[in-house]
Amino acid sequence: MKAVVHHRYGAPEQVLALTDIERPEPGPGQVLVRVKATGVNTPDWIAVTGTPYLLRARAGEMRRGAVRGTDLAGTVEAVGDDVTDLRPGQDVFGSAWTGGMTTTGTFAEYALAPAAQLIGKPAALSFETAAASVMSGLTALHAWRATTPVHDGMRVLVNGASGGVGTFAVQIAAHDGAHVTGVCGPGNLDLVRSLGAAAAIDHTTDDFTAGTERYDAILDNVLNHPPSRTIRALAEGGVLMPNSVGNTGGLLAGLGRMARANLLGRLRRADVRFVTTEYHREALTALARLLESGAIRAVVDHAYPLEETPKAVAHMLSHRASGNIVITVP
Ligand SMILES: NC(=O)c1ccc[n+]([C@@H]2O[C@H](COP(=O)([O-])OP(=O)(O)OC[C@H]3O[C@@H](n4cnc5c(N)ncnc54)[C@H](OP(=O)(O)O)[C@@H]3O)[C@@H](O)[C@H]2O)c1
Repeated sequence: MKAVVHHRYGAPEQVLALTDIERPEPGPGQVLVRVKATGVNTPDWIAVTGTPYLLRARAGEMRRGAVRGTDLAGTVEAVGDDVTDLRPGQDVFGSAWTGGMTTTGTFAEYALAPAAQLIGKPAALSFETAAASVMSGLTALHAWRATTPVHDGMRVLVNGASGGVGTFAVQIAAHDGAHVTGVCGPGNLDLVRSLGAAAAIDHTTDDFTAGTERYDAILDNVLNHPPSRTIRALAEGGVLMPNSVGNTGGLLAGLGRMARANLLGRLRRADVRFVTTEYHREALTALARLLESGAIRAVVDHAYPLEETPKAVAHMLSHRASGNIVITVP
């Protein structure tokens, strides 16, 4: 099968190559999916570039070549012996994430995923929409339904509102009854408002940490301010959700600010909560319902064919994608 493989860390265009490799076989609890579309996410550029360096330990072993990518939508090709509720020929979507950064991923014609992280794809969702939604949508869902549940009239701010996670976070918070302020660049103000934000702040001209507005919760997908400054924009009892590894390489990138935010939380200077992404079927089903009903939509900046995966990862790495980047597999 064709897969995009890399053997060393570096710039996507220099280290990723479309190669013929052996098709994997599903083991117990696994499903082999014929990939129709896959999404590109932060862990993918981290694993390709090997930055921040601190995360190399989690980026996986590459001696035999690594295939990146975790989000997927496609058709079941084969199932492991003990998988009884998914069958060959069924359209599914979900995640191949296996805890660490997977090295047998979805930037390929076929990929293995745990059956517990796949559900049937609603017919109303295209493969592209489904693949674009998995990590970004589930992260936003976890933020507002588990980490800091939204209540009616709650005032929330989403920094990085026009990105993959941000476009879902704005929509889910607004759908659940929040008054949403989105922070983005000038070219994305209309997009963010169209997703349900009551207010949009241009980060090139305004600094939300210097304003007079106060928020009950801030989901910070950018961490471009020291957390000690961001918490000044919180209302009494407000919650900060730092959610970014940052956008540069080096040893730590944004991890330093995540650690400082954690410290502020431990010192009780603020209520600091970290968002995780859970790929179980219940979460996927909740996301599918929101998409199917039209309550939210996936914003797709660009869809690249599999052979242009290096361009797709480089686009993600530019940190300028409006919404999500998708790779389609013909
Ligand atoms: N907790 C988890 O499990 C989890 C899972 C996935 C991702 N994440 C984290 O979520 C973060 C966001 O992911 P993503 O996929 O949304 O990234 P992304 O799509 O690369 O974000 C790109 C967006 O960032 C915006 N941006 C860049 N600089 C900005 C600034 N100074 N102020 C406001 N917005 C700015 C850009 O907006 P403009 O072009 O409009 O300026 C662009 O739309 C990542 O850092 C990642 O570490 C966490």
